[in-house]
Amino acid sequence: MNSEHLKLIITDDGSHSILNLDLNEIYHSKYGAFQESEYVYIQQGLIPLMSELEEINIFEFGFGTGSNLFLTMHAALNKSVHINYETIEKYPLPPSIYNLLNYPQLKPHPEIDIAFKASHSAPWNFEIPLLNNFTFIKWQLELNQYNHQRQFDLVYFDAFAPIKQPEVWTEQILATIYNLMKPNAKLVTYCAKSSFKKTLRNLGFELEKLKGPPHKMEMTRATKLA
Ligand SMILES: C[S@@+](CC[C@H](N)C(=O)[O-])C[C@H]1O[C@@H](n2cnc3c(N)ncnc32)[C@H](O)[C@@H]1O
Repeated sequence: MNSEHLKLIITDDGSHSILNLDLNEIYHSKYGAFQESEYVYIQQGLIPLMSELEEINIFEFGFGTGSNLFLTMHAALNKSVHINYETIEKYPLPPSIYNLLNYPQLKPHPEIDIAFKASHSAPWNFEIPLLNNFTFIKWQLELNQYNHQRQFDLVYFDAFAPIKQPEVWTEQILATIYNLMKPNAKLVTYCAKSSFKKTLRNLGFELEKLKGPPHKMEMTRATKLA
C-alpha cells in the first residue's frame, strides 16, 4: 500500500494505530489500540481456549499492524499451548510504517520483540517459527484465493468497519470463514452490527452478546455449531 495514504497515530492508551486517509478509518479504536486488541481478541477469544486446547489454530482476517499477533505471542509465552497463527492481508504496511510501531517499547520482551520484527519482514505465503511454541504464516491474497490446509479453532475477524468496507462483511466472505473453522470453533470481532449478526446466525453460528471494549457497548463472539 502507498504509505502516503497511511498515517501513524497514537491512540489514547499510548499504543500506535494507523489512519487510512483514503477510507478515513483507523485500524483500531482511537481509545486504545492495545486495549481493544487485548480485550476483544485475547481476553474474549484466546484466553478461554487456552485452558481447553493444547494446540490452537488461529486465523486472522487483516494482519495490518500485527497488534493481535503481538498480544497473542505475549499471551502464549511460557504456556503449555502450541499456536499456529495464519493471517491474510490485502494491503501490507510498508517498512517505513511498521518499523515505527511502538508495541515492543510498550510491552518489551527480548524474544517477542525479535519475533514481532520477523513477522513483518518475513516472506509472504511461507510458514516460519516465531517462538518455540508458535508458528506463523501471512498470506497476501484475497480470501477466495486462500487454499487452507488447516481447520481453525479461533478466528480474529478484524476487517475495517462494515460502513467503510461492506464487501468484506458479506454472507459469501463469512461463509468462507465458516468453512475454515472446526466445529465448536469461535469467531471474535469488535463489530456488533445487527445485519452482521443476522448473517452469522443464518450461516449456523450461535452468538454471544458480550460487553465491548471501553467506549463500545457490545462485541461479538460466535461459535460454529457442531
Ligand atoms: C481494522 S484493520 C486491522 C488490522 C490488524 N488486525 C491490526 O491490528 O492492525 C483491517 C485490516 O484488513 C486489511 N484488509 C482490507 N481488505 C482486506 C481483504 N480483502 N483481505 C484481507 N485483508 C484486508 C486492511 O489492509 C487492514 O490491515
